[in-house]
Amino acid sequence: MSVDAELSALLTETRRFPPSPDFSAKANAQPEIYQRAGVDRLAFWADEASRLDWAQPWEAVLEWKPPFAKWFVGGMLNVAVNCVDRHVAAGNGDRIAYHWIGEPEGDERDISYAALKDLVCRAANALTELGVHKGDRVAIYMPMIPETVVAMLACARLGAPHTVVFGGFSSEALKNRIIDCDARVVITADGGYRRGTAMALKPAVDEAIAELADVRSVLVVRRTGQDVGWTDTRDIWWHDLVDRQSPEHPAEPHDSEHPLYVMYTSGTTAKPKGILHTTGGYLTQAATTHRLVFDIKPESDVFWTAADIGWVTGHSYIVYGPLANGTTSVMYEGTPDAGGRDRWWQIVERQKVSVLYTAPTTIRTFMKWGEDLPAAHDLSSLRLLGSVGEPINPEAWMWYRKNIGGGRCPVVDTWWQTETGGIMITPLPGITATKPGSAMTPFPGIGADVVDNAGEPVANGGGGYLVLTEPWPGMLRGIWGDEERYRQTYWSRFDGMYFAGDGAKKDENGDLWLLGRIDDVMNVSGHRISTTEVESALVSHPAVAEAAVVGASDATTGQGIVAFVTVKGNVAGDPESGERLIAELREHVATEIGKIARPRQILLTPDLPKTRSGKIMRRLLRDVAEHRDLGDVTTLADPTVVNMIDEQMKHQPSTEES
Ligand code: WT7
Repeated sequence: MSVDAELSALLTETRRFPPSPDFSAKANAQPEIYQRAGVDRLAFWADEASRLDWAQPWEAVLEWKPPFAKWFVGGMLNVAVNCVDRHVAAGNGDRIAYHWIGEPEGDERDISYAALKDLVCRAANALTELGVHKGDRVAIYMPMIPETVVAMLACARLGAPHTVVFGGFSSEALKNRIIDCDARVVITADGGYRRGTAMALKPAVDEAIAELADVRSVLVVRRTGQDVGWTDTRDIWWHDLVDRQSPEHPAEPHDSEHPLYVMYTSGTTAKPKGILHTTGGYLTQAATTHRLVFDIKPESDVFWTAADIGWVTGHSYIVYGPLANGTTSVMYEGTPDAGGRDRWWQIVERQKVSVLYTAPTTIRTFMKWGEDLPAAHDLSSLRLLGSVGEPINPEAWMWYRKNIGGGRCPVVDTWWQTETGGIMITPLPGITATKPGSAMTPFPGIGADVVDNAGEPVANGGGGYLVLTEPWPGMLRGIWGDEERYRQTYWSRFDGMYFAGDGAKKDENGDLWLLGRIDDVMNVSGHRISTTEVESALVSHPAVAEAAVVGASDATTGQGIVAFVTVKGNVAGDPESGERLIAELREHVATEIGKIARPRQILLTPDLPKTRSGKIMRRLLRDVAEHRDLGDVTTLADPTVVNMIDEQMKHQPSTEES
């Protein structure tokens, strides 16, 4: 059997989970939605946009001059008003917008929509006092605290695009972003809590802007109370400036295409791309996908996106989507193991979280920590689970469903990107029968397909490149200051289609399986094998906690598969049992996928190199596997991990068979 045939056999044998009639009966999305959006997708999006408050209606739903789109042309609205003021005006001021939970135990704040409105207006007045005008860029470098949301909404209210830089980035990264979008004001904090300690943020800002004379103000929230350096002419405490402002602020409506924010994301080159999102279309897609994918009932749900606001997931599903829908969210500052490895389950139990959205890497960490921890808590409030950020291997999907969802919660695997602004491919709970590991189908009103090298759609059972075939409301409007790179990166590979950079397959039923980035797809002896498939196979072995697979260049086969594997407990405590396990794993992969997918080399390592957002850095592992010097490791959560693996690699003989 060829690899493709074996894979499709594997896929069709995969279990399906039809929605429960109970869930379907009460679901926000009903099956007719696909039909309705299919017949007239612009009418579908227009209906959705009408759920927002517009100060001036649009004249045209879409203006498409490839590759440039304008949505809700001529319409005017204010994002902050839609996220906050209108809920207060509707009588829901007492509803909690955020149950905020700091990392130190007992450090909590509940913020109602009325309180949020007050804070956002004060902050907007404060920024105005600092000379921030519509169109000016503001950099936000903050921990996960309520003021971060307030700062973003204050910017949105003024029409001053924000660029939130993840607090884990270095001063150098912060500096480059400030320069790239020419931000004149920075909002930060003295620090925040992470892994049980107060980490500092202000020193990185001081360093970043030391030579940037154009940055005239730094607004600083006191979070930890640690000592900070101070430049009187430039720095001002949030509590000194914001607290004395008026809680009233008349909001001006902005054009539907007015820039809302710039979010930097890594591409194939060293320089991050500033992804530009605008106002009306972005908010429409964030709100619509949030309401339908997570089946949000604002009166009763407690929604928790366990991600950092410094990433697009936090922008769309901690801030803009949930607030536009008047939802109550949990916002948690720290790491999953702060105050015990069951910290999340304590939070779910106490706050009665009903919808949880997180990443596969976190789910696999929980798997490693064991099912006893969630089992010791009452998680019965949960009714829906989501996954995002990378392909989820069926093992992790099943574990999530069983141990966190109690076997009763639908699991939605949502594919999207910083560039798409909102969810694009996903099951809809109550409608779609899910398959562990598949993101299933394009969201209503979204056009997506899998094409071959020539841009032709592949038949069911085939694989190729994921493309987006129609412009969508939340799409990036460009790369900040670099129109050519925008065309090149996304629109030059296939004519008239957006190239996502992901490999994908359509199974027998036409359902979509995301296979990871194209550069993670290996070619071994002319066979296309996804690193994800091999990783999934490895992780399905009971001894394996996590696996990262790379294609290393190989004189005979083109590429050879090299796997880096962390094991559960002490399975590989001594060299002999390590050897045995490696042999077993190679056979396991051969059984799961085929001999062709059997790794050339397996390295058992205590940890894997990850970015601060939790993504495995396969690029570095490829360097290790190909015995190259390691490049830039500063974006890693823990740079020592990869050096250790590099050392190990030099000393472990290849397990390659002759
Ligand atoms: C890349 C985008 C979407 C917000 C967080 C990541 C991968 C994302 C999935 C998924 C398989 C996924 C893709 C994509 N990805 N979600 N459900 N299944 N892969 O945003 O940092 O812009 O990364 O993440 O490779 O291209 P991002």
